[in-house]
Amino acid sequence: MRYVAPSILAANFNKLGLDIEMINQSAADFVHCDIMDGVFVPNISFGIPIVQAVNEISKKPLDVHLMIVNPEKYIEDFYRAGASVITVHSETCPHLHRVIQQIKSCGIKASVCLNPHSPVSLLEDVIEELDMVLLMSVNPGFGGQKFIENTYRKVAQLKEMILQRNSQTLIEVDGGVNFEVGKKLYEFGVDILVAGSFVFNSENPIETIAKLKQL
Ligand code: DX5
Ligand code: ZN
Repeated sequence: MRYVAPSILAANFNKLGLDIEMINQSAADFVHCDIMDGVFVPNISFGIPIVQAVNEISKKPLDVHLMIVNPEKYIEDFYRAGASVITVHSETCPHLHRVIQQIKSCGIKASVCLNPHSPVSLLEDVIEELDMVLLMSVNPGFGGQKFIENTYRKVAQLKEMILQRNSQTLIEVDGGVNFEVGKKLYEFGVDILVAGSFVFNSENPIETIAKLKQL
């Protein structure tokens, strides 16, 4: 599949509503919400009330990326705020299998994220449980960073694992995505591209989103 999830971390928070309207009118498939706690990652973004406010006007499902410690404490809150997909980081979950079940028991899609240093093999025993895997292609915490090239290799490994296990798991990549990177990622088997600064800093975000889907 070829889906695009604009990350509102790069939106203008003075006019967040207008940026959500823009996404509503675009070919985007999800709204990617980056939740940062200043502990797991060295930055603080926004939390549950903002996700809820976005959900009230968004026509696109919310893809909520939790870059927080102890994510199991907040799964139900983000579900109630409107998340359609919740992603937790493998690095924050000693009991990953349990957290995946917790997300699924809300009736929404469960996803696990791997930091650039975390091997794909960590997911071998849960891959069939997952609706999506998010591969970080930058170190999480900030938008506008440079794409890490090793991500292509990880996508290929993950794709092979998914095919071998006959699983339906989708692959999402997050960080430093632009047209060139996105085209290559689709060729390697990625299903969902997250793009923050590339979309919101472009002259015509609606056109950029449409082009990202048609690479
Ligand atoms: C990074 C976030 C990303 C970020 C991507 O920690 O998880 O979703 O918004 O931003 P760009 O596309 O600018 O790299
Ligand atoms: Zn993200």
